[in-house]
Amino acid sequence: MKPAVLVARAVQADVIARLREHFDVEDNPGDEVFSKDEFIARLHGKQGVFATGSERIDEAVLAANPLLRAVCNMAVGYNNIDVAACTAHGVVCTNTPDVLTETTADFGFALMMAAARRIAESEHFLRRGEWKKWSVDMFTGGDIHGATLGILGMGRIGQAIARRGAHGFGMRVIYHNRSRLEASVEQACGAAYVGKQELLQQADHLVIVVPYSPASHHAIGAAELVQMKPTATLTNIARGGVVDDAALAKALREKRIAAAGLDVFEGEPTVHPDLLGVPNVVLTPHIASATVATRRAMADLAADNLIAALGFGPSAGRPPTPINPEVLRPTA
Ligand code: DGY
Repeated sequence: MKPAVLVARAVQADVIARLREHFDVEDNPGDEVFSKDEFIARLHGKQGVFATGSERIDEAVLAANPLLRAVCNMAVGYNNIDVAACTAHGVVCTNTPDVLTETTADFGFALMMAAARRIAESEHFLRRGEWKKWSVDMFTGGDIHGATLGILGMGRIGQAIARRGAHGFGMRVIYHNRSRLEASVEQACGAAYVGKQELLQQADHLVIVVPYSPASHHAIGAAELVQMKPTATLTNIARGGVVDDAALAKALREKRIAAAGLDVFEGEPTVHPDLLGVPNVVLTPHIASATVATRRAMADLAADNLIAALGFGPSAGRPPTPINPEVLRPTA
């Protein structure tokens, strides 16, 4: 008998077909978003789950599903998973790093540029039929080239954004991170390490790429926004909750910073109503990794992880990108 797995959301048909070679697959072609109870019920009897970052996997889920052995996220972020609880239950967790780095960095850069150059705001103006004449200060924004790019969180995606800024746009790049990068990595990214306060005060364009954790909750709130330049922009492609959206909406309304670009939100897909009411923010529905090629690569890697984690395929027992490898049995 094949092991049973749940694919929590609709994914590419050939990925499901590949999983079916090894598993008894319950998929979700209707792309229903399961309630917690429904998710727990559907996981019943399953040994693995192909998750997408939207499903919370915590002690309650694990305790109700003792057969579960693998949680494979189709996302690099894994704040939806209680990794410590999974480890305690002997459940291996995996994510999808690397394959989305450049795509996500492209998007972060695009969102930053859209905010700085007021692209969405001016497009809405045009569509409303309000463009009647040229004016000297119509939608004047801030330059990207030659400006100071500040990056909070300097993992793979932060470094890819830094490279774009330093080498593509001649920006001065500064970053703040839990730990400082090696000098050779800093040099390759063209980035200099600074304290958080300097980052806030000196950045013309601040991009947030730090993973969500209780420690990064509201890392950018009213106290941080007040330190930024009134001409600065803020872009968040990390996770909702890293930025205090209510405080940001207030800062944007009061023009305490110039503009923002947000792809992630606290409590998404609900967006804070105050953000919807301010014009100087570009809002996108968590699509930073959404290119056809990258979503395919993410799904393929999540499937590779699930297949290997449950003991099949060429790297049986060794999923390529584990989060808690200590759960895996040592190789002989
Ligand atoms: C990730 O991979 O964590 C992204 O946010 C999902 O698109």
